[in-house]
Amino acid sequence: MTHRDILVTGGAGFIGRNMIRGLLDDGYTITSLDNYKIGGWEHVPASLRDHVEWVEGDTRDLELLTKTVRGKDAVLHLAAPSSFLMYEEDPVDGASVTTHGFLNVLEAMRRGDVGKLVYASTSAVYEGNPVPYTEGMELAPPDLKALSKKWNEEVARQYSERYGMTAIGMRPFSVYGHDEFSKGGYANVISLFVWAVLHDVTPVVWGDGRQTRDFIYVEDAGRAFQRALECELPTQEFNVGTGVETTFSEVLAMIGEELGRPVAPRYVDVPIAIYAERLWADITRARDVLGFRHRIDVREGVRRVIEAARAARTSPRWNTLGAAQMYFETLPRG
Ligand SMILES: NC(=O)c1ccc[n+]([C@@H]2O[C@H](COP(=O)([O-])OP(=O)(O)OC[C@H]3O[C@@H](n4cnc5c(N)ncnc54)[C@H](O)[C@@H]3O)[C@@H](O)[C@H]2O)c1
Repeated sequence: MTHRDILVTGGAGFIGRNMIRGLLDDGYTITSLDNYKIGGWEHVPASLRDHVEWVEGDTRDLELLTKTVRGKDAVLHLAAPSSFLMYEEDPVDGASVTTHGFLNVLEAMRRGDVGKLVYASTSAVYEGNPVPYTEGMELAPPDLKALSKKWNEEVARQYSERYGMTAIGMRPFSVYGHDEFSKGGYANVISLFVWAVLHDVTPVVWGDGRQTRDFIYVEDAGRAFQRALECELPTQEFNVGTGVETTFSEVLAMIGEELGRPVAPRYVDVPIAIYAERLWADITRARDVLGFRHRIDVREGVRRVIEAARAARTSPRWNTLGAAQMYFETLPRG
C-alpha cells in the first residue's frame, strides 16, 4: 500500500471511529472533520485521540473544508444524519447537511485536486423496491433522508464525469455494534433492545416482530469502505450488507439466549406511514468487485453488544440508555 493521507468527515461518529481504527492499524494518516453534533468529543476513545488530527467544524463551511482537504489523497465522507428520526425532528437541517455538506465536499475536492471519494449513501435509497436490493434497481425513495442521499449519488456521478474524480457510493444496511452509546435514541435497534433489557425495561416492537433488517457489524462496514478506498474502480455504488435477513423477533430471541432468560417485548402499531418491512442486501457486487465479505454474524454481534453494554454499566451515561428506545412509543407522526 502506498502511504495515504485521508480526510474523514464525521470521523468522531459511530462508523467513523471504528473505520479510523482500522485505517490507523493499516498505516494511514487521518484527519477528521466533525462538528460533534452527535455524541460529542467525549465518545472518541483515548486510543484514537492522539493519533488523528481532529478538526472541529461543519461540512457546510466550504472554506474550512477546502483548507482541510488540501494535500489529501482521498476523502471518506460520513458526516450526515444517520437516522430517519433526525429528519423527522429537523427536516431542514437534515437535508441541508446531507446535500449542502456533500456538495461542499465535492467542491473542496475539485479545488484541491483530490481525486478519490468514498461516501456513505444508504440502503434507504431502495425504499419501495422488492428485496433483495441490487445496485442496478431504479430508485424512487419516498422520504427526505433517502432522497437526499440519492441526490448525493447523482451529484457524485456528475462531478466524476465533469472533473474526472472517482466517487464510490456505499449503501450501508443496518449498521450496529459495540460502540454505539454516542447515538442514544438514534442507535440501531439491536443496541436499543439490549440496553432496554439490561435496564429491565420491556423492549417495544413496532408491528409483529417479523420485520427484517440486514444487520452489519460496524467493523465489517468499516472494512467495506476501506476496500472501496483501496480498489482502483470507476464511480459506482455498493451495498454494504451481509446478504442475511434477520427478524426483530430473532434478534430478541438471541438476546434472551445470550442472557439466559426469555425476552418478552410489547408490540405496538407502526406509527409512521413509511416503514420498511424488509431490508435485505444482494451482496454480489461488493463480493465480486471489492472482494468484501462480512466476518461477524448477528449472533456474535449481539454477544459483543451485550458485553460492551455490561462493561458500560459503571459509566455515567449508562443510566440514560434504558430510556433510549422510548421514541418507539412517543413518535406521533404518520
Ligand atoms: N448507522 C447506520 O446504520 C447507517 C446506515 C446507512 C447509512 N449510514 C450513513 O453513514 C454515515 C455515518 O453514520 P453513523 O452511524 O456513524 O452516524 P453518527 O451520527 O454516529 O456519525 C455521524 C458523525 O457526523 C458528524 N456530523 C454530522 N453533521 C455534520 C456536519 N454538518 N459537519 C461535520 N460533522 C457532522 C456527527 O457529529 C457524527 O460524529 C451517515 O452519513 C449515515 O447516513 C449509516
